[in-house]
Amino acid sequence: MAQLISIDRARQSAIAEASAVLGDGMLVAIPTETVYGLAADATNPQAITRIYETKGRPRFNPLICHMADLEMAERHAAFDPLSRKLADLFWPGPLTLILPLKAESDIHALATAGLDTVGIRVPRGFAGELIRAFGKPLAAPSANTSGRISATSAAHVETDLGGLIPLIIDGGACAVGVESTILKVEDGRIKLLRPGGIPAEAIERATGLTVDRPTEPGVIEAPGMLASHYAPSASVRLNVSTVRPGEALILFGGVRIAGMETAGLTLDLSPAGDLGEAATNLFGFMKQADASGAESIAFSPVPFHGLGEAINDRLSRAAAPRDR
Ligand code: TXA
Ligand code: MG
Repeated sequence: MAQLISIDRARQSAIAEASAVLGDGMLVAIPTETVYGLAADATNPQAITRIYETKGRPRFNPLICHMADLEMAERHAAFDPLSRKLADLFWPGPLTLILPLKAESDIHALATAGLDTVGIRVPRGFAGELIRAFGKPLAAPSANTSGRISATSAAHVETDLGGLIPLIIDGGACAVGVESTILKVEDGRIKLLRPGGIPAEAIERATGLTVDRPTEPGVIEAPGMLASHYAPSASVRLNVSTVRPGEALILFGGVRIAGMETAGLTLDLSPAGDLGEAATNLFGFMKQADASGAESIAFSPVPFHGLGEAINDRLSRAAAPRDR
């Protein structure tokens, strides 16, 4: 089983232990402000191979490379002026930028799945400190079995992957709760590849520019945006107005729903209707509903604005037809 180290109790030894394990080419689950990441030395092909094997992740799906700061990022990727502005505005934070990979970067091609671009993110807090101490970028997808619900606590990681990795750093519950927003600048325009922890509206306000949403749904630009993802074992119904007996019910904003007294379990993502709180609770509540043994999880509608865009994106993937 994985060793667990709490950053509250032992921050410096967490950094030292994690650096040592990463230096040996092994994996460490680390807290970030979005979700827990399954981290490996991004320059070490054996280590990166372990990520794909441990998650059961398709190898055509590239990994985000996490950097300590903009200076480190600039050693690996070329920034156009608008990408640079986005980095200045939102790093450290829940933003990933897709950028041209520099020829001199030692990030291994297994991390980028052989693409000539790289996804870069500068996380806040412990993860940033760890990368600075380690001195090299960390490739890290979300710390969950591929296709399943992302982990927002050390306990989630332990349940899913604890038997497969040597070390989990416990940083408590993730503050944001959904993954980073992924953007790519093309011809001076900002393209949204994945809605996430920074609402598109916040990016538009800060830059004064429009963020382009994918025009044709189904055309996938971030290779990891497979339709079915975040899949609990139970089936998922969205935007329900009635509940079936025994269903697990997940509400938003304190709404009342027909038949809710017959639900097997009822949770509210945010009784006060706060989308930030709802994002933080989303994956944990999905896991709790799944663990209740209900055959189906019913969600009441969640508004589409702000963080609601990322929440609805994850919900529609959780509800998508599965091929497994
Ligand atoms: O918040 C997050 O982003 C978390 C934490 C751990 O940083 N990470 C995360 O990683 O969500 P993952 O692997 O679950 O999702 C990464 C996404 C995938 O959809 C992948 O296809 C996309 O980023 N991606 C990575 N590199 C890319 C590239 N060069 N071009 C296009 N998409 C890329
Ligand atoms: Mg993921």
